[in-house]
Amino acid sequence: MTGRLTGKIAVVTGAASGIGLATALRFAAEGAEVHGLDRDADRLAEAFSETEHVHPLVADITDERSVADAFDAVLARHGRLDIVVANAGVQLFGHDAAIADLDLAVWRRTVDINFTGTFLTMKHAVRGMLPTGGAILVTGSPTGLTGEGGGFTAYSATKAGGFGLVRTVAADYAKAGIRVNSVVPGFTTTPLVTAISDNEEQRAGIVSRVPLGRPGTPEDVAGMMVYLASDEAAFTTGSTYFIDGGMSTL
Ligand SMILES: NC(=O)c1ccc[n+]([C@@H]2O[C@H](COP(=O)([O-])OP(=O)(O)OC[C@H]3O[C@@H](n4cnc5c(N)ncnc54)[C@H](O)[C@@H]3O)[C@@H](O)[C@H]2O)c1
Repeated sequence: MTGRLTGKIAVVTGAASGIGLATALRFAAEGAEVHGLDRDADRLAEAFSETEHVHPLVADITDERSVADAFDAVLARHGRLDIVVANAGVQLFGHDAAIADLDLAVWRRTVDINFTGTFLTMKHAVRGMLPTGGAILVTGSPTGLTGEGGGFTAYSATKAGGFGLVRTVAADYAKAGIRVNSVVPGFTTTPLVTAISDNEEQRAGIVSRVPLGRPGTPEDVAGMMVYLASDEAAFTTGSTYFIDGGMSTL
């Protein structure tokens, strides 16, 4: 199906790679005019060289001036903002750890990108959407709900915080016509998780806990993003949507 986002103006963060990249391309295929935001200018330029409808937007979500300028540029160009996907994030494999072994610098870096960066993205998304309403999606993680067996204190805490942001922003801005939902991928093959996917034993261990028997793809997640960003999802806000091959049933 195509055309589900025709005429919509979208910003997707973390768009140079993985889930953000697949989402930006899928939104464009569905008729949206998309701004792919990332701090990695080279990878952004390469990622969207073959599509007219995804525009690179170089910004760092930890820097409020950078985020504000990025959203101002989109509003100056189109005069409106319909969809924002707050997706950029990091998981510092090899550094994030059980709490007694977790360095403050690793904690701060993870909080800065995953939590403060999500806050800044949502803040400027809401400001841009106040005149018209819109849809905000935040990429969560099951780790923020279950702890996923431990070992990733900073990542888990920032992702748990994201669910709180989604619910409170959804409540505050429902009357303004702004819908806010969490999209929660399970184990999804992207550069973020190469530390696991390149290790056959660890990969097989995770896949054995996925009832549908495979890792997710960025395109699996993009499908859910399209639905929640579209007018088909007009009656949903403040909710949590899993795309995890059934892992949350275990
Ligand atoms: N891959 C998985 O298994 C998985 C599972 C659950 C949740 N997630 C979440 O999905 C989201 C996307 O992850 P992915 O797997 O596609 O990762 P990825 O590493 O492929 O992409 C993340 C992108 O975010 C960008 N980014 C990082 N810090 C930034 C900053 N300060 N400003 C702007 N851009 C920044 C990176 O440059 C990169 O392009 C993350 O929030 C992640 O926590 C991923």
